[in-house]
Amino acid sequence: MYSIDDNEVIEIVGKEKLEGELIPQGSKNGALPLIAASIVFDYPVKLYNIPNIEDVNILLSILKYINCKIKFENNELSIDCSNLDKYEIPWELASKMRASFDLLGPIVFKFSKARIPFPGGCLIGNRKVDIHLYAAKQLGFEVEINKGDVFISNFNKSKINKVINFWIPSVGATKNVVFLAAFAANIINDEILVNNIAVEPEVIKLFDFLISNGFNLEYSIEKKYLKIKPFKLKNYNYYEDFNILDRIEAGTYILAALATKGRIFVKENSYFKDYFKLYLTLNSLLNVLKQIGFKVEIYNDGIYCGYEGDNLKLDGDLKSIDIETGYYPEFPTDLQPQIVALALSINGISTIKEKVFDDRFIYVNELRRLGADIDVIDNKIAIVKGGRELSGAKVIATDIRGGAAILIASLIANNTSVISNIYQIKRGYENLINKFSNLKAKIKLRFNKENEVYGYKY
Ligand code: UD1
Repeated sequence: MYSIDDNEVIEIVGKEKLEGELIPQGSKNGALPLIAASIVFDYPVKLYNIPNIEDVNILLSILKYINCKIKFENNELSIDCSNLDKYEIPWELASKMRASFDLLGPIVFKFSKARIPFPGGCLIGNRKVDIHLYAAKQLGFEVEINKGDVFISNFNKSKINKVINFWIPSVGATKNVVFLAAFAANIINDEILVNNIAVEPEVIKLFDFLISNGFNLEYSIEKKYLKIKPFKLKNYNYYEDFNILDRIEAGTYILAALATKGRIFVKENSYFKDYFKLYLTLNSLLNVLKQIGFKVEIYNDGIYCGYEGDNLKLDGDLKSIDIETGYYPEFPTDLQPQIVALALSINGISTIKEKVFDDRFIYVNELRRLGADIDVIDNKIAIVKGGRELSGAKVIATDIRGGAAILIASLIANNTSVISNIYQIKRGYENLINKFSNLKAKIKLRFNKENEVYGYKY
């Protein structure tokens, strides 16, 4: 559910071609698990390249509640959890963000128990946690759901199953299982194998971070397994690490630039090993863009994507889109709404199928307010009739990525659009107004005049 309670709105005058360079932010989904993981160490951790966005700030407020010391300035985050003393997270804090469930594994690792509110409803469909709870039971814990909380406790080593098979390569369950299994492996002094894990770059970054701090992990990206072996945490005085770049933020700006028939250069960061390089983490998107007919060039220092209108005979030379989302390295569900927005600017019928979440098209109603012609079949497939003129309107950002799609559609619409509920977009996009302005968009943040925002709540 979302509420329309923001004091600010984004105003966009459409039809400007975006052009310029983007320096991507640190990854939202990369930062959250590194921050959650940092609570298991008795020494201070410093994380670089952490985006200053709502979701990070909410997680930090939970860490403060459990008595971690936090300093967060200029994208550098220092965390000292040596005095951590709570294994329970109250609903008032956890309900603000689903990713608070990421703390489950780290808290259990530290205290052998945890009480965390059961994650509530969500704007992009069912988001079950049955795999997380199944894994906890298989690893010898008791799992109780009481008064809306998940309570994990009473570890019993005789109940451990040393091989766990995930039926979906869940990102969240993979992040939690590594801590639960590490706890169990240390007690039975034996190895635990998890099959069908998520291999998103953000998950692999978490594994590497944990390995640097002493965890004994062996994983295969191709075969999607993780072995967790007995280990001792390092005895550092201090540890520091660098968060990866945000492939979803970068992908969003690329799609926005191309939807306006513009061009963009996205800067790579040379710090990372190959698996984390943007051009690889965005490979599925870049392939789709080439198939559509956009120019995509990979350089050592970045990625160029552009609409080369001069080289095309007609606009119609751009091919419509036919894709489906999937688990990494397939096309990311977190770019599905934004590529639907791109499809609005391409002549012909595009088909975009959502295969990860079961209801990720709520934002489509808002696109229709701008004049978009989109059918959604069974909440799974969007049929986009592209090439129609869109006209600016008052629209509501439904969720983080749906909000980004609404913003992109506003950039290609005639006249002015006013986007409210922008809290949702701010959850994931740092410095959004400046970044779009630098790309020559006509965009500004302004106060929401009284009664200007109307409508309904989902
Ligand atoms: C993470 C990302 C989110 C991204 C998603 C998929 C973070 C903070 N969020 O979310 O941005 O869209 O990965 O790439 O990193 N499922 C079950 N049972 C479970 C767990 C998941 O059925 O126990 C289902 C979910 O309902 C969903 C699918 O599996 O349909 C994928 O979920 P999951 O990979 O766990 O995504 P999140 O970790 O929630």
